[in-house]
Amino acid sequence: MTASKSETLYFVYGPPGSGKSTLARRLAGLLDLPFMDLDEQIQASAGMPIPAIFDREGERGFRQRERAALEAALQSGRGVVALGGGALLDPTSRSLVESAGRVLCLRAEREVLFERLGQEVGTRPLLGEDAGWRERLDALLAARAAHYHSFPLSLDTSALNPEEAARQAQLKFGAWRVSGMGAAYDVRVVQGGLDALGSMLRARGLEGPLALVSDSQVAPLYAERVEAALRAAGYAVQRVVIPAGEEHKTLETVSHLWEAFLAARLDRRSTVLALGGGVVGDLAGFAAAVYLRGVRWVALPTTLLAMADASLGGKTGADLPQGKNLIGAFHPPALVLSDPATLSTLPEAELRSGMAEVVKHGLLADPALFARAEGGWEAMRANLDETVRRAMAVKIAFIQADPYEKNIRAALNLGHTVGHAVEVASGYRLRHGEAVAIGLRVEARLAEALGVAEAGLAGRIEACLRGLGLPTRIPEEIDREGFLRALRVDKKNAAGQVRFALPERVGAYRVGVTVEMDFSELLTI
Ligand SMILES: NC(=O)c1ccc[n+]([C@@H]2O[C@H](COP(=O)([O-])OP(=O)(O)OC[C@H]3O[C@@H](n4cnc5c(N)ncnc54)[C@H](O)[C@@H]3O)[C@@H](O)[C@H]2O)c1
Ligand SMILES: [Zn+2]
Repeated sequence: MTASKSETLYFVYGPPGSGKSTLARRLAGLLDLPFMDLDEQIQASAGMPIPAIFDREGERGFRQRERAALEAALQSGRGVVALGGGALLDPTSRSLVESAGRVLCLRAEREVLFERLGQEVGTRPLLGEDAGWRERLDALLAARAAHYHSFPLSLDTSALNPEEAARQAQLKFGAWRVSGMGAAYDVRVVQGGLDALGSMLRARGLEGPLALVSDSQVAPLYAERVEAALRAAGYAVQRVVIPAGEEHKTLETVSHLWEAFLAARLDRRSTVLALGGGVVGDLAGFAAAVYLRGVRWVALPTTLLAMADASLGGKTGADLPQGKNLIGAFHPPALVLSDPATLSTLPEAELRSGMAEVVKHGLLADPALFARAEGGWEAMRANLDETVRRAMAVKIAFIQADPYEKNIRAALNLGHTVGHAVEVASGYRLRHGEAVAIGLRVEARLAEALGVAEAGLAGRIEACLRGLGLPTRIPEEIDREGFLRALRVDKKNAAGQVRFALPERVGAYRVGVTVEMDFSELLTI
């Protein structure tokens, strides 16, 4: 999606029988947007069924009515619109629609279309009522084949049930609404979306004054642009810059943020914006959670790791010298906007680090994503937009199902029990994602040794991570005592035992596995 299009307006298009209305209705429910069926609106305003419009006014009259209904839908700027099967044949209508929002063109195999339509012959004007409708459908498909193929976003619904189709549509659009924790918020992936931030905040009724929190690396790159977008939408915004790096993810930095919020006169209706990686998001989100007993915040992740993982799920916090994330709060953002264009300035090592979480998500629940990661660095790098969307979709599914990590959300800790300990014991010389990569392999080895994982899985994971340029072995110079201490202090420990989320195979995992062992064995596993 590009910034000029509304990220609250989606169109579903395609041949008769491809499932437009069903999908659009479900998608509207999932995104909490109004559903519109263009053909239904045309019938309602004409006061007669579509075949009657064709009889009385011909196809030309119908298309005129269709254009009017389309313009009304565009006016509202919000919704999921099921279009008639020929609604975008007219180039003017098409360009109107494509510049206002995004279009997903559905496809289905010919036999599937026949089967679905067989039940509704008579209500489809272009197919008619007699037995010759199959020939007419074939002719229509042939005539419009190039047209339907010309839409950049498409989805084959032949083998999908309506629920799966709607989820795939979310993935294609990069649009979700996440609920849980007593709140619901929109998540969007929009290329260049930072430039549209002002209107996105306005569309959601978010109020100023705003504090734009960023770090010393990211602020010089993007803060001015974001501020310009916000000011254009009439917001007052104060920039607050914190030093970059995990070593600054401390309560001291949080208290600096609170002071800056006070100085900027943020009140209870104000919104904090977190522009940066996971460190900025965790800190600004936490500062917002506690400031005046809680103000709203918006996540604007600029690292792959923060897009794929940290910005989603409402966990915010800071580190203590004893361990990572020991202080924190559940405080979901009011909006998450990932702009994959920002990844172009991310240092390569940070991009690789983020790939560890992507691999984790593929391993947990998206075998196709894992397979792509096995294809190596260049393949992953070539399609970051899709990588971001797929990885986000996995995390969203987990946090929707279990917002407070009572059970399956713990799966997201895969690789993290060991990973956190390695990260701390390295004195944060290892990046979070690098430590997670090591943790993924070590925990997979452990899972194999326990008989939880299928044989060979750890090797496969290791090869995949190495192909992405990530480390997989605990460095020899690691502080052994520091590692063991950090492992025991990890907040996921239960009564002295360490609980692991472990992989079984690609696409399957087990959570809450308690392991009693001499953990120093992990250092050499
Ligand atoms: N809250 C959660 O659920 C959750 C989940 C996973 C990780 N995390 C946390 O996230 C943190 C790691 O996040 P991270 O890897 O994003 O680290 P980070 O925020 O430290 O960012 C990494 C580096 O990249 C720089 N940077 C960020 N975006 C850039 C861009 N677009 N161009 C150039 N430079 C850029 C930053 O300034 C920093 O130096 C850890 O503290 C981890 O605990 C939180
Ligand atoms: Zn992580």
